[in-house]
Amino acid sequence: MTLDVVTLLTEIADIGRDPVRGGYSRHVYEPAELELREWFRRTSAGLGLEVETDRNGNIWAHWGPRGDGTIAIGSHLDSVPGGGAYDGPLGVASSLAAVSALMEEGFVPARPVTVAAFGEEEGSRFGIACLGSKLMTGALPGAKVAALVDEAGVTYAEACRADGIDPAGLGRDEERLASLAAFVELHVEQGIGLADLEAPVAVASSILAHGRWRLVFSGEGNHAGATRMRDRRDPVAAMAAAVLAAQRIASAHDGADSARATIGRLVPIPGGTNVIASRVDAWLDVRGDTDPQTRALLEEILSASHAAAQEHGCTLEVTEESYVSTVNFDPDLQQRLVGALGGVPVLATGAGHDAGILAAEVPTAMLFTRNPTGVSHSPYETATDEDCRAGAKALTEIVRLLASEPRR
Ligand code: GLV
Ligand code: MN
Ligand code: MN
Repeated sequence: MTLDVVTLLTEIADIGRDPVRGGYSRHVYEPAELELREWFRRTSAGLGLEVETDRNGNIWAHWGPRGDGTIAIGSHLDSVPGGGAYDGPLGVASSLAAVSALMEEGFVPARPVTVAAFGEEEGSRFGIACLGSKLMTGALPGAKVAALVDEAGVTYAEACRADGIDPAGLGRDEERLASLAAFVELHVEQGIGLADLEAPVAVASSILAHGRWRLVFSGEGNHAGATRMRDRRDPVAAMAAAVLAAQRIASAHDGADSARATIGRLVPIPGGTNVIASRVDAWLDVRGDTDPQTRALLEEILSASHAAAQEHGCTLEVTEESYVSTVNFDPDLQQRLVGALGGVPVLATGAGHDAGILAAEVPTAMLFTRNPTGVSHSPYETATDEDCRAGAKALTEIVRLLASEPRR
């Protein structure tokens, strides 16, 4: 029986719900994400696929004999804190649905096809996004990832053992990269482009340059009642000024409408109502069309943040935690997808994806499925059942196209 993408998403709808934030919190190697991994393995095995977990914590479900010229499809299962149901799982479920539809009609691929579920795409637990694909491509060294620490002090090396991964094996996977002829990731659109165009499916053109910086403002912890305003060195006040500066500066850069700056995570220490904090840790996310634009935007925000720290008698320490340059997807593959789908729209995105990391090594493309509100990284992310099925159907056609070509 053909697997239906909507039914597959319904099967996992209760896994990892977050009763406090709403939506889903499915962080890598935590119980909910481990349950999703088991669901993916079980469902893939049920289709007759050969399931393999690679040494970087990515799971692969192989259709047919493995080898050169493989067409890979897939996405991720983890979520941001309080994320939606579609970001990630829609791509994995659509991939399984596509393979099952082709099997059902008796299609025989002329080359290997594999479905991938990448680990820690969001960077919600260990701070850096796309860890699975960055490890596989060597964009991040295994030793660096192994040493990353989550909020509870657990290292990646300790955490990955929960899915049987030996941290000694983390790192670039030459053989797997060499075996891939193409990677196509289907994803719910994380903007309003398709809704504006009144179309269900698009092909991606590019991803904005983007990075994350950790900002540590340090001041003097003190008593909220006994410390005069003029005697304070309050890092929260300095941070608040930095947040407003980031907003103001990115908005002023908006000629191309692609400059973005966000501080969405702040941790005041010690974090008491009647306590002036001694320190605030914050994470700044900056994105832009090109590397120079993104770097210029960052520099302006950091300069305003240093000034804010000084004004409040505090210090500021900045660390770059990750950076990915602008990605332009393979133009040939892009055009072939557009053609095969009857001339669907082509859209750029500001969201990062494993496809953006693999694009440096393998001809890579993305399909987007309409998001009626454009909201994502939120419990309110939505997609209609009809559009999810249209996306899975489009992916089916793309696998048919790519897997029909004999290996050279
Ligand atoms: C991932 O979704 C990102 O763009 O941060
Ligand atoms: Mn996401
Ligand atoms: Mn995603």
